[in-house]
Amino acid sequence: MGPPRPPLIVPAQSCQLAVLLIFFMRQREPNLDLLCETQPPVTNLSVSVENLCTIKWTWNPPEGANPNCSLWYFSCFGNKEDKIIAPETHRSKEVPLNERICLQVGSQCSSNESEKPSILVEKCISPPEGDPESAVTELQCVCHNLNYMKCSWLPGKNTSPDTNYTLYYWHSSLGKILQCENIYREGQHISCSFDLKVKDSSFEQHSLQIVVRDDKGKIKPSFKIVPLTSRVKPDPPHVKYLSFQKGGLYVEWENPQNFPSRCLSYQVEVNNSETEKPFIFNVEDTKTKCQSSEFEGNPENKICFIALGVLPDTLNTVRIRVKTNKLCYEDDKLWSNWSQSVSIGNKANSTIYITILLIIPVIVAGAIIVLLLYLKRLKIIIFPPIPDPGKIFKEMFGDQNDDTLHWKKYDIYEKQTKEETDSVVLIENLKRASQ
Ligand SMILES: *[C@@H]1O[C@H](CO)[C@@H](O)[C@H](O)[C@H]1NC(C)=O
Ligand SMILES: *[C@@H]1O[C@H](CO)[C@@H](O)[C@H](O)[C@H]1NC(C)=O
Ligand SMILES: *[C@@H]1O[C@H](CO)[C@@H](O)[C@H](O)[C@H]1NC(C)=O
Ligand SMILES: *[C@@H]1O[C@H](CO)[C@@H](O)[C@H](O)[C@H]1NC(C)=O
Ligand SMILES: *[C@@H]1O[C@H](CO)[C@@H](O)[C@H](O)[C@H]1NC(C)=O
Ligand SMILES: *[C@@H]1O[C@H](CO)[C@@H](O)[C@H](O)[C@H]1NC(C)=O
Repeated sequence: MGPPRPPLIVPAQSCQLAVLLIFFMRQREPNLDLLCETQPPVTNLSVSVENLCTIKWTWNPPEGANPNCSLWYFSCFGNKEDKIIAPETHRSKEVPLNERICLQVGSQCSSNESEKPSILVEKCISPPEGDPESAVTELQCVCHNLNYMKCSWLPGKNTSPDTNYTLYYWHSSLGKILQCENIYREGQHISCSFDLKVKDSSFEQHSLQIVVRDDKGKIKPSFKIVPLTSRVKPDPPHVKYLSFQKGGLYVEWENPQNFPSRCLSYQVEVNNSETEKPFIFNVEDTKTKCQSSEFEGNPENKICFIALGVLPDTLNTVRIRVKTNKLCYEDDKLWSNWSQSVSIGNKANSTIYITILLIIPVIVAGAIIVLLLYLKRLKIIIFPPIPDPGKIFKEMFGDQNDDTLHWKKYDIYEKQTKEETDSVVLIENLKRASQ
């Protein structure tokens, strides 16, 4: 037995090959030992939070690494998810910090995935302390026409009803964390709306980080990351022109601002006065060329469509709504409000008939009243009223009282009757005399 041999040191890359070799070499040199050189672990792994939900891990290169080794770092999250081999000594991730999250990092000497990295070092970050039951629930945000964001939530179970909520938000165009000023209640929900102010048009690259907490720190904060390409609710479109042509109803409308035509899907509803069910047309992409030059503005914003099968010569009421599609956005569920409805054609005859039936009696009645009034005036002109002697006397003795007037009237009347009686008596006397 000779003196013990020093172990054979092989770099980590060649370890598998060396194990094979040593198997044969041991037949001649039974004391030969193999020491596979693995990389030392990374040092000073630390974690910090930037913005609201950007978690950043940093580390230093391993101490005592082989100078011939060009260092690469293997990293992955908790359950070996999102494995990356990269030369940088940091890694970050946007995570809603509602759960604990850990990163594991090891070093290696190449970018080869099959190389076994050094011992993995782990660093975790935990969400803020607090009773989970106190955190708000159903935190949701809808992006309205890419102009403003509206977030709403429900109070947690273990919260006092007078909790004063605050919402902070951040995205890369802002430069700093802002507080949502305008918190209001909507039934059970609490909501807050804020302008997005995304400068460039590259919405896809942005996500919004938000946190809802309370001013006294009594509830557990809730975090959320909202990609700006999800849950976008466009404004309603504007119907601009309707006409019947080519055996269909030609509809022309204007898209809401901020959306190229290819990023939207459309729904055209045509309500016909003759049919019970409305016609619904789902328009995915429009190839109809717009013919009318009736309205100015960006032609890219203009969409034309021919709705076939719509009955002409009847009243058709058209309205349109839009939603984002999967070509440009993650979400294709949120419809815009309906546009204003626009009508074309005449209402069915039956309705006109009913209207006429209602209107004619009114007109006839009116005519009769006018005629009666007119006839009354005509009568006055043809037969002027007989002057009333009493009235004349009244005018003559305007300053005397009514009693005197009655008396005078009576007096005259009596005189007249007396005279008449006298003459009758006279005639009778004459008759008797002649007999
Ligand atoms: C780790 O951090 C400490 C203090 O920040 C520093 O003194 C040390 O040099 C670092 N180690 C490495 C390997 O960079
Ligand atoms: C680094 O490589 C050189 C030549 O390739 C070699 O002479 C030297 O021993 C190597 N150093 C280590 C520490 O492996
Ligand atoms: C990685 O290493 C394995 C064996 O260790 C080798 O077969 C493979 O070709 C290497 N791949 C690259 C990209 O270097
Ligand atoms: C919320 O604010 C109101 C008015 O500022 C205050 O009266 C109330 O006590 C606050 N609620 C809590 C739980 O602090
Ligand atoms: C959509 O309709 C709702 C309910 O009628 C209304 O409150 C809201 O302001 C409308 N939104 C737009 C963008 O017109
Ligand atoms: C069209 O008809 C449907 C179903 O009858 C109705 O819900 C809708 O409000 C109507 N639309 C218009 C613009 O009147």
